[in-house]
Amino acid sequence: MHGAMKTRALGVSTGISVSAIGLGCMPLSLEGRPSKREAIRVLHAAFEAGVSLVDTADVYCIDDNDIGHNERLIAAALAKWPGRAKITVATKGGLVRPGGAWICRGNPRHLRAACEASLKALGVDAITLYQLHAPDDDVPLEESVGALADLRREGKIQHIGLSNVGLAELRRARAMAPIVSVQNRLSIFDRQDLRSGLVDACAAEGLAYLAYGPVGGMKGKVRTAQDGLLRELAEARGVSTFRIALAWLLERSPSIIPIPGATRAASIVDSAAAADLELTGDERARLDAAFPVEV
Ligand SMILES: NC(=O)c1ccc[n+]([C@@H]2O[C@H](COP(=O)([O-])OP(=O)(O)OC[C@H]3O[C@@H](n4cnc5c(N)ncnc54)[C@H](OP(=O)(O)O)[C@@H]3O)[C@@H](O)[C@H]2O)c1
Repeated sequence: MHGAMKTRALGVSTGISVSAIGLGCMPLSLEGRPSKREAIRVLHAAFEAGVSLVDTADVYCIDDNDIGHNERLIAAALAKWPGRAKITVATKGGLVRPGGAWICRGNPRHLRAACEASLKALGVDAITLYQLHAPDDDVPLEESVGALADLRREGKIQHIGLSNVGLAELRRARAMAPIVSVQNRLSIFDRQDLRSGLVDACAAEGLAYLAYGPVGGMKGKVRTAQDGLLRELAEARGVSTFRIALAWLLERSPSIIPIPGATRAASIVDSAAAADLELTGDERARLDAAFPVEV
């Protein structure tokens, strides 16, 4: 039996529906990562729970000698998963990891080489969603997006997404190519894109908004675990604080798809259940008062 989950459009124009909660795979490949066997167990637990979107990047790895680690891991997990056709993989290009640092490299030549390497690491002929990891201050955004538009025309990628962008950058990119998604930091503690109107703009234009760090990030997750109100509401319901925080996020907009990370199967199984948690009017009012969107 595989779990079913509420779905959301991965950008209305794509015709692709994915689970309302995706899996962010980054923690499976950074320093301190679990063994390959354990990481595959986490991915399979996510699929079993109904997660049908996995988010990765060529740079989810330890350093430049390890590029593609996370994509190869996902390919290995999918090879052993009978329902693999139902899983959508979104990856990214546009960063490098010299000595373990995170550095932008958004020039067209790099993006093309990175995309070719991702195709190989994932073992596919075309990447369903290819996201520009971040705008590179040294490369005009139009050049980076233009490179992705070329790759799309050539059939190497099916859809283009952006990450770490603001409204103005989204508008500039959309003038160059069809953009189907934005991936930015968003959680009950990081509400910037709710305030700026970026989330609303995505909803109005039919773009998916992939929320990264949705429980506060690998360090900030402690806040989600310890916040007084989240704890009170979670205890009253008999669920985790993480589930309450993710349910709040899902209610902010139909375009939001949180992509919580996990190194333990139990984390993603718990997070996945947030898709089915409906907040009561009272819970919603108390959370909205404690975590206001309007300043
Ligand atoms: N585009 C970008 O620039 C960018 C930047 C950062 C992240 N991302 C993407 O977004 C994803 C998510 O962000 P993130 O991993 O940084 O932060 P996050 O999802 O906010 O936090 C991840 C950590 O929270 C814990 N966690 C999550 N759900 C939990 C639950 N239900 N119960 C208990 N613990 C839970 C996990 O712990 P355990 O390890 O103990 O399982 C995990 O290590 C990444 O994996 C990546 O795919 C993208």
